[in-house]
Amino acid sequence: MNLKIVIIGGGSSYTPEIIEGIIRRHHSFPVTEIVLVDIEEGKEKLQIVGELSKRMILKSGKPIQLTWTLDRKKALVGADFVSTQIRVGGLQAREKDERIPLSHGFIGQETNGAGGIFKAFRTIPVMMELAADIHDLCPEAWMINFTNPAGMITEALLKHSDHKKVIGVCNIPFNMRHSTAEILNVSPDDVEIEFIGMNHFVFGRKVTVNGQDRTEEVLEKLKKGLDYSPANIVNLGWSSTFIDSTKLLPNPYHQYYFQTKDVLTKDIKAFEENGTRAEKVQELEKSLFDLYKNPELQDKPKELEERGGAFYSDVACSLMDSIYNDRKDIQTVNTFNNGAITDLPTDAVVEVNSIITKNGPEPISVGPLPPVVKGVIYEMKAFEELVIKAGISGNYNDAYTAMIMNPLVRDEKGSKILLDELLEAHKEHLPQF
Ligand code: G6P
Ligand code: MN
Repeated sequence: MNLKIVIIGGGSSYTPEIIEGIIRRHHSFPVTEIVLVDIEEGKEKLQIVGELSKRMILKSGKPIQLTWTLDRKKALVGADFVSTQIRVGGLQAREKDERIPLSHGFIGQETNGAGGIFKAFRTIPVMMELAADIHDLCPEAWMINFTNPAGMITEALLKHSDHKKVIGVCNIPFNMRHSTAEILNVSPDDVEIEFIGMNHFVFGRKVTVNGQDRTEEVLEKLKKGLDYSPANIVNLGWSSTFIDSTKLLPNPYHQYYFQTKDVLTKDIKAFEENGTRAEKVQELEKSLFDLYKNPELQDKPKELEERGGAFYSDVACSLMDSIYNDRKDIQTVNTFNNGAITDLPTDAVVEVNSIITKNGPEPISVGPLPPVVKGVIYEMKAFEELVIKAGISGNYNDAYTAMIMNPLVRDEKGSKILLDELLEAHKEHLPQF
C-alpha cells in the first residue's frame, strides 16, 4: 500500500529531523514516498536537503522513495499527509519582525507582539492557497501545520478554508513533558501534563506520572529553576511567589507577558550588541548547510539541536503514526476547542490534550479555565481573532485593532508607528493589504 508524505518547505534546515523520525517509525508507519517541496528562492537549499535525506534513507535501508520538486501541485497528488514548515519572506523577514519593534522599545519576537502579527499577515494568504490546493488535489490528506504562528494559522485555515483536516503542532508541550520527566527521573511516556490555552500561550495545570498526581513536586522544581525553554528563549526563571500564587506551569513564551520589562531590557541589549535571534539563526543555518553538503554525512547532525524547534519531528511523526494506526493515544495539538474548555467558543483553536484517532483529534474536556488566567486567555484569544480577521481582509483598520489590542504593544501612537513601518517593510509579502 502507498503511504505518501509531502513536506511543504522541504528545503528547511529542519527537514533531516522529520526524515529521521519517519525512518525511526517505519515499522508502524510504513511511509513509501516522501516529496520535498519548496519555492524557486529555496531551490539550492532544497537540493542540499534532498540529497542528505536520500543518503539518510539509503543508510536506513528502508524502502522509501524520496524526491524533491518546485511543482507543488504535482507533488500533492495522492498525498496522505502534508506537513507544512514554511517561512514567508525567509529569515530576512523575521529579522524585520524582531528589529523594528525593538527599535521602538517594544518586544520584537517571531510569534509574539507586533512581529508575530506580521508573521501571521504574511503567512495566512499563502497557507490559504496551499489548503485550497490540498482540498483540490488530495482532499483526504491531513495537513500537519508547524508554520508559525501555528495556533493562529490553524484557526485561520479551519475557519476560512474548505480543507478541514488541519492540525496545528508545536514542540513546546513536548519539551515541557520531556524536561519534567527528566527532572522526576521517569520515562516521558509515563508523564501526562494537562495543557490549557493556546499555542505559545499554553499553561500546564496538572502533572501526573502513571496516573499519580506529581504537580506539587514539579511546581517546587520550577521555583528551583526547572528549565524547559527551547534554544531560542533564555530562561529568566520564575519566582516562588508567581508559582505559589498561580499554581500553574507557565510555558517559556509566558516570560514575554509576565516578565515583559526584564525580557525587553535583555533583548534590547542583545540586539544592540549581537543582533537578534534571526541573525543568530542565519549563522546557524549557514553552518548547518555546510554540514549537510558533506557527501559523507548520512545522519541528522547534533548541531540541529541548537534550533528552537528541535524535536518537532517527534511531535509530527507521533501524530501521523497515531492517525494512520487509529491509536487513540493522547497528544497535545492545536484543534477546534469543541467544548473542551467550557468557557471558550467551540470554534476557537486551542492547544489541549486530545485523543488521536483516524478521524483526527478529539480534545479532552478540561472544564472551565483556571480563574487566575481566565482574563489573559480571553484577551489573547480575542486578539488572535483580530489578527486572523485582518490577515484575511487586508484592511488597515482591522490590522490596527490587532496591533493596539496586543498586550505587548497596547499603545495608541506606537501601534500606528509599528503598523506603518512593518506594512512598508513587508509590502512584497502582503498582497492582501
Ligand atoms: C520554539 C517554538 C517554535 C519556533 C522555535 C524558534 O521551538 O515552539 O515554534 O519556531 O522555537 O526557534 P529558532 O531556532 O528558529 O529561533
Ligand atoms: Mn512552536
